[in-house]
Parts: sequence; structure tokens; C-alpha cells
Amino acid sequence: MNIKIAPSILASDFARLGEAVERLEKCGADLVHCDVMDGNFVPPVTFGAQAVKAIRPHTKLPLDCHLMVLHPETHIEDFASAGADLITVHVETCNIPALFKQIESFHIKKSAVVNPETPENRLFPAIDEGADMVLLMSVHPGWGGQKFIQESLKKIEAVRNYCVKVGKPDLDIEVDGGITEENVKDVIAAGANVIVAGSTVFRAKDMAATIRRLRG
Ligand code: DX5
Ligand code: ZN
Repeated sequence: MNIKIAPSILASDFARLGEAVERLEKCGADLVHCDVMDGNFVPPVTFGAQAVKAIRPHTKLPLDCHLMVLHPETHIEDFASAGADLITVHVETCNIPALFKQIESFHIKKSAVVNPETPENRLFPAIDEGADMVLLMSVHPGWGGQKFIQESLKKIEAVRNYCVKVGKPDLDIEVDGGITEENVKDVIAAGANVIVAGSTVFRAKDMAATIRRLRG
């Protein structure tokens, strides 16, 4: 499978977001992961569509917007107009078929995500509905730099098996949280191919080499 690296700008210097995404592109990242938090679905507040619009001119990389917000349906249009290429919504927050229709109406990609305590089979209807990607949280959403939850590996396997079973063996499966150069092999072996990494990429001495090594 084609492994894609999606560094999270949550771990970057917010005073220099434009430079951060330019650097990610130069260093070989495949996507820019944008962690949007509303202070309700998760305790912290990060940034919204305005910040996504501000970084848009600084990179050609797809902007992968992970919406950790309640009522995501009230934000889709703003993120689409801001230049998001892919929007991921939590199954815990919305009616997936309705949200997918809304996202599709802006001709951008759609994805669904589950929290660590939500069973992975909640992603299966999203896969049936034509998700372009699915995401499994491997930490509790809200903060970067947490420890990878080992039980996530079984969930990744179950989702990849389902994809194979329904004739979508190559569907993008993204995993988010606590991924390091050490545990990435297990994440890929379990069946994931889109790797989110915040701290690992932004704390690296040599960002390009770290992104290369994360590919396995
Ligand atoms: C957590 C966010 C993650 C986070 C990952 O709520 O969704 O994307 O930034 O950061 P690391 O890689 O540091 O765990
Ligand atoms: Zn995220």
C-alpha cells in the first residue's frame, strides 16, 4: 500500500503556520493534518476555517481537516471555502450520511473518525456510504504528545479486514495520535496507510529524514 504521512500542524509554532506548511511540503509530507478543536467536543480550542484559509496559499499539499467539533454541519461550508481538500467528521457528533452528502456537495473528500472508546464497527456504515478515508484515533482527542493506545492496533486490523471483505482493499485508513518512529511499523502492519504525526515530525532534528523513516 502507498503510505502517506500527514504531519499535524498542532505541534508547530502557531505564529508561523505558513512557514510550517511550506517546510512540510519541502520535507516530503503527503498531507497537512489540521486539528480543529472547539472547546466543546474536546476541551481545548485550536483554530478554525480562517487559519486554514491563511495557510492555503502556502502549500499545494492537500489540507486534511480533522473536525473535533460539535455540530460539524455548521462548519462544512466555511472549511470548503477556506480550501480544505478532505474533511473528517467524528461519528460521535453527527449523522454520517447527511454530513457526507453535505461535504460531497462542495466536491471535496469526506472521511469519518472514531474515538478510542468508540467501537470500530461504527466506521463500517461510513465505508458503505463511500468514505474516501476513515480515521481511527489512537489517543483521546484534544492534545498532541500523548502515548499511543496499543488496543488501537486490533481496531485497525478489523477495519482493514472489513475493507477487504466489502471489496475496498485499498481504502485509506488513517491513524492519529502517539505515532513515533518506533511504533509506526506496527501501525502499518495492522493495515493503516495514512500516518498522522505531530510531535514526532515537529520535534525532529531532521524533518525530512524523520518523514522518510515514518514511511517504514
Ligand atoms: C489529537 C489530534 C492529533 C494530534 C497528534 O487530538 O487529533 O492529530 O495532533 O499529535 P501527536 O502525533 O503528537 O500525538
Ligand atoms: Zn487529528
